[in-house]
Amino acid sequence: MDRLVAAARAAREHAVADFSGFKVGAALETDSGEIITGCNVENATYGLTVCAERVAIFKALSEGRRSFRRIAVVADTASPTPPCGACRQIIWEFCGDIPVVLANLTEVTATAHMKDLLPLPFDKSLLGR
Ligand code: THU
Repeated sequence: MDRLVAAARAAREHAVADFSGFKVGAALETDSGEIITGCNVENATYGLTVCAERVAIFKALSEGRRSFRRIAVVADTASPTPPCGACRQIIWEFCGDIPVVLANLTEVTATAHMKDLLPLPFDKSLLGR
């Protein structure tokens, strides 16, 4: 079994999802094969909720990692749970056109590529950077 998906499943167990009950886990693979995980973190304001994908990316960046080759997202759904719009923007910004492996508790349900999930992106190339 893909250890990235296994890591996302394990991270999902830590989800702080008392309001929605919808637990999500994410696992990000660095270019050197290291895995950094995240889970969704909800709170009483609702609006300050952070998705599993962004938690994983911000953890990785804050620990000095800068190059990533895949991300896995796990939710307990029969059909794939793809990243929300905000997460697509952040994944694109820091990971580029990586594969996004979507899985549930027992199987991989889809694999998508960021260029398809976020066509015509706004990014730093438009700022001349
Ligand atoms: N959520 C994620 O963490 N990642 C996704 O890809 C979809 C949604 C979270 C946010 C919120 O805590 C809960 O799922 C319901 O939207």
